[in-house]
Amino acid sequence: MGREVKIITTEDGSHSLFVPELNETYHSFHGAYRESVHVFMLYGLEAWFVRNPNRFPVRIFEVGFGTGLNAWLSLVWAEQYKVPVLYHSIEPFPLEEEVYSQLNYTEIDNSIYHYAPYFQMLHKTSWNEGTVVSEYFNMKKDTSTLEEAVLYPCDVIFFDAFAPSKQPELWSREMLSKVVETMNQGAVFVTYCAQGQLKRNLKELGLAVETLPGPPGKKEMTRAWKVD
Ligand SMILES: C[S@@+](CC[C@H](N)C(=O)[O-])C[C@H]1O[C@@H](n2cnc3c(N)ncnc32)[C@H](O)[C@@H]1O
Repeated sequence: MGREVKIITTEDGSHSLFVPELNETYHSFHGAYRESVHVFMLYGLEAWFVRNPNRFPVRIFEVGFGTGLNAWLSLVWAEQYKVPVLYHSIEPFPLEEEVYSQLNYTEIDNSIYHYAPYFQMLHKTSWNEGTVVSEYFNMKKDTSTLEEAVLYPCDVIFFDAFAPSKQPELWSREMLSKVVETMNQGAVFVTYCAQGQLKRNLKELGLAVETLPGPPGKKEMTRAWKVD
């Protein structure tokens, strides 16, 4: 554990992390916060909820807990909509407190600033056990790689691994199949990535694949549904 990371500021003013070892960032340079809202919240969780307004709890699985941004935005969503969320995330390289305590995500949107204390809580909760973080949000975060992780049935997948050029093994047909198998009927898989091979693999695994407009600075992203 403990990998060298440097805090950077992206174009929307929100932080991200740069990993020198991989020459890779955790989010888009064009805006970490905007990317997370666009790809994972808007086209992921909210899209699923529009189709399934009465199916509780919502089970989310995230590849790469990282900065905790997706988890925090999901918690805010759960509290605002009063929809129970069970959030499972995996992360082989948990961040040190000196890093996550400097991240500015809770300062980007003043209208949700009162949820700020939960950001630290998400990081401080114990690893590898389920925790009730807030009234509508339960989380289990495992210090596991995708390769080793034990997965549970889920409704929404936030596939937020580093790019296929940096970590091809996480985007292999075998790994995608492991994730797709856990998807409930009607579940959705979202990622910022729009690679052709990814889309072909998801199609071959039986999903209905969509190419959608990406967040600012990125032309396209991918969403895929498990449908009859
Ligand atoms: C693109 S970053 C996104 C992280 C997070 N979702 C966020 O918004 O900050 C990818 C994350 O995957 C983690 N990761 C690296 N190798 C992994 C593996 N083998 N399995 C699962 N996650 C991995 C990284 O440490 C990093 O936190």
